[in-house]
Amino acid sequence: MLSPAATDLQQLYGQGYRLCPTPNGQLSLVLSTEREIDLYELEQLCDAVGWSRRPLRRVRKALQHSLLVVGLWRHDPRFPRLVGFARCTGDGVIEATVWDVAVHPLYQGAGLGKQLMVYVLDLLKAMQVERISLFADPGVVGFYSAQGWELEPQQKRCAFWYSP
Ligand SMILES: CC(C)(COP(=O)(O)OP(=O)(O)OC[C@H]1O[C@@H](n2cnc3c(N)ncnc32)[C@H](O)[C@@H]1OP(=O)(O)O)[C@@H](O)C(=O)NCCC(=O)NCCS
Repeated sequence: MLSPAATDLQQLYGQGYRLCPTPNGQLSLVLSTEREIDLYELEQLCDAVGWSRRPLRRVRKALQHSLLVVGLWRHDPRFPRLVGFARCTGDGVIEATVWDVAVHPLYQGAGLGKQLMVYVLDLLKAMQVERISLFADPGVVGFYSAQGWELEPQQKRCAFWYSP
């Protein structure tokens, strides 16, 4: 039998949600692929991490065509807030590429980016994707390499590969 809290979380975030452990016990942070992303909230998150804006209708289409769209939510029973995001493209069998990994600056440095990546990889591994890649900005290479991502051996740039 599910506890009421878990039932509430399932209603808001779908079956496959994952609660992130945080140092602040007052705060619940939830990863989900099923809760719909509000494009304006996503835009605010992208603004907050300093990314340039894209037309919302193009973003909507990009999300629709993505293999996986993951939101990290600050739980609130009435107004969950989007505080993190990642998405993947690919065929879901042989290849997947991770894009647009972001955690809102107010929530950075608490292990959430790492948990977001673990969640993304768990989902891709469950699909049995053979190869996962991403393109890291130079200032973020250390974030990924500390998690076991390796520099793509041929090009020696910022592309990484990971074989589950
Ligand atoms: C990169 C980002 C997602 C990391 O999120 P975060 O929640 O702050 O990361 P975490 O707290 O989970 O950090 C996990 C570990 O990575 C380290 N780390 C975080 N950002 C790092 C960076 N830019 N470079 C090197 N190491 C980094 C942390 O110190 C931590 O180390 P520890 O496990 O030894 O304590 C976040 O800083 C962000 O959204 N940045 C702006 C957008 C961006 O650049 N995205 C990546 C595009 S390629």
